[in-house]
Amino acid sequence: MCGIFAYLNYLTPKTRREIIETLIKGLQRLEYRGYDSAGIGVDTPDSTGMNLIKKRGKVKALEDEIASMEELLDFDRVHETHCGISHTRWATHGVPNEVNSHPHRSDESNEFIVVHNGIITNYKDIKKFLENKGNKFESETDTEIIAKLIKHIYSQHPTYSFRELVEQVIQQLEGAFSLCFKSVHFPGECVATRRGSPLLVGIKSKSRLATDHIPVLYSKERENHFSIRTINHRPVGFEMPCLPRVESTAEFHTSNENEEVEYFFASDASAIIEHTNRVIFLEDDDVAAVKDGVLSLHRLKRLLEDSHAREITTLKMEIQQIMKGNYSSFMQKEIFEQPESVVNTMRGRVNFENGTVILGGITDYIPEIRRCRRLLLIGCGTSYHSAIATRQLLEELTELPVMVDLASDFLDRNTPIFRDDVCFFISQSGETADTLLALRYCKARGALILGVTNTVGSSICRESHCGVHINAGPEIGVASTKAYTSQFISLVMFALMMCEDRISVQPRRAEIIQGLKHLADQIKEVLANDDKVLELAKAIYQNKSMLVMGRGWNYATCLEGALKKTNLQGEILFQKIKELTYMHSEGLLAGELKHGPLALVDKTMPLIMIATRDPVYVKCINALQQVTAREGRPIIVCEKGDLETQKYASQFVEVPHTVDCLQGILTVIPMQLLSYHIAVLRGCNVDCPRNLAKSVTVE
Ligand code: F6R
Repeated sequence: MCGIFAYLNYLTPKTRREIIETLIKGLQRLEYRGYDSAGIGVDTPDSTGMNLIKKRGKVKALEDEIASMEELLDFDRVHETHCGISHTRWATHGVPNEVNSHPHRSDESNEFIVVHNGIITNYKDIKKFLENKGNKFESETDTEIIAKLIKHIYSQHPTYSFRELVEQVIQQLEGAFSLCFKSVHFPGECVATRRGSPLLVGIKSKSRLATDHIPVLYSKERENHFSIRTINHRPVGFEMPCLPRVESTAEFHTSNENEEVEYFFASDASAIIEHTNRVIFLEDDDVAAVKDGVLSLHRLKRLLEDSHAREITTLKMEIQQIMKGNYSSFMQKEIFEQPESVVNTMRGRVNFENGTVILGGITDYIPEIRRCRRLLLIGCGTSYHSAIATRQLLEELTELPVMVDLASDFLDRNTPIFRDDVCFFISQSGETADTLLALRYCKARGALILGVTNTVGSSICRESHCGVHINAGPEIGVASTKAYTSQFISLVMFALMMCEDRISVQPRRAEIIQGLKHLADQIKEVLANDDKVLELAKAIYQNKSMLVMGRGWNYATCLEGALKKTNLQGEILFQKIKELTYMHSEGLLAGELKHGPLALVDKTMPLIMIATRDPVYVKCINALQQVTAREGRPIIVCEKGDLETQKYASQFVEVPHTVDCLQGILTVIPMQLLSYHIAVLRGCNVDCPRNLAKSVTVE
């Protein structure tokens, strides 16, 4: 997830200082979407070229850099009409550094520049094509191909308008994107588009807009189209005739002729609300272009269900509210982002048509991993739980011994490590000290180090031999939610990749891939139970203690629902429940119930049981019977329509059925929601629980 922001003033005199301040402020509002580097692209003071200024780190670092360039940037010069684009990055391809930061450029003279939020999954094919045409790439990003591609098309079709060039570009792109373009060939113009990533246009004009809707214009056929495709898995670039082109037939006047107007393009409304509350939310494949102060909206193809206009919405929200959307906290927002984040984790990696799974960061190491002695999965807290959740599948599909360890305990035990071990270090932040120390311990002993992180360029990324970036987007709430489900899926994808040549497991692989395909919709279905979970939370939030029980594939959900953590006073906290609500809870393996915890069960002790119809289902029912025999009144998370299990429940939450090894992704979501609601009801700070930090960089 990254943030993009662009600003265009038309016949509205602004000093360069004002223009740059507007861009920087927009980026600051979007910083929650990514903060490993930032950059802006503006015209040079004499308007003959472009200044690109990029800086690693937060937007503040960029702001300081710009402040030190006063002379070069000529802050007091006034532009009547000008377009500037900017970006705050959360790395997906290439470490956070200045070269990999946006805007990206077509060439050294910055003829075309672009900012991008999303992931281009076919960028390697396009890169190959462009390299064959003599282009040299400076960054490791997927985005740079876009800047170079538009220049290539421009060189073939110099009569195309800026918008037409962008339309040609996006027909070549696969994956997700929102994009803003600027070019020296089209001064005072800006073109923006999206597919799968958010983008909106803000309009500020003195006169009331003539309309509340903007018409959408459609394409006509045109010769001389450009195409790059992969054929039989080999990237082939070629240009071929005959594909569509958009023909402009009408224009939309956002202001009276020759009237001052300002436009803002942004990933979300938080960046523009202080300038205007009039916005258009673009839809996938909309191409929005401003030329001579006029905004037009085009689409490449007319679909039956398309509406013929986009509404200009008047926002009524506060900035803070908008940043979190309709959510009251980042944690709640991140829980509800999971249908999207799980797709981003799989994007470009799982091919649901032909059943291939490719994790680019480890492909070259797969033969070595297949020959290893054992797999060790090491992490802390929630990241450790993702290892527990997937251990069984890794054992099943790799046929290798799999050890799972808490990083701190692993180090305390001076665990023996061998050169032919493969060690996974799982960490959302990529900076957790215990995990990093364990990594160095294993690396020093010659093991292969594989990082699984959400933070490109983090210490764990840098120090690993290879790895998987989980692509969940920045996680701001201290309690990890969407990173857990994305870590889970990343490890499942690894297991699938390890066994793709084994004929005997193909039916199992196929059912898991089908399960992955439907996951996003099923997560939405679970999230629809939010009101029901809130009612459950109301029933139990005043209790002092709670048990969360399950076994087999769902054991990790119990640990994650009730993970232990002690605060500085040595008091046990809930996590998710413990960590957020300061209420004691225990995650129990249901098989251990009769070996001790049963003594705690009575009619007053809240107890949650996770019971889905997998191979240990009957054993779960036995445990439920033991609980109800002691007057326990379990709340059950079970599969939809499982009336037999529901008989034992005082209350229940249903989740859809999926393949056993993925069921833990669906059962953990009610636990995340429950922790969230209990925390709110107990008046706790959901995003910043006391004594806990997002990234624990001390031992
Ligand atoms: C729980 C939580 C922590 C982290 C743990 C490891 O919600 O966020 O338990 O999972 O501190 O952090 P990372 O994954 O950044 O290494």
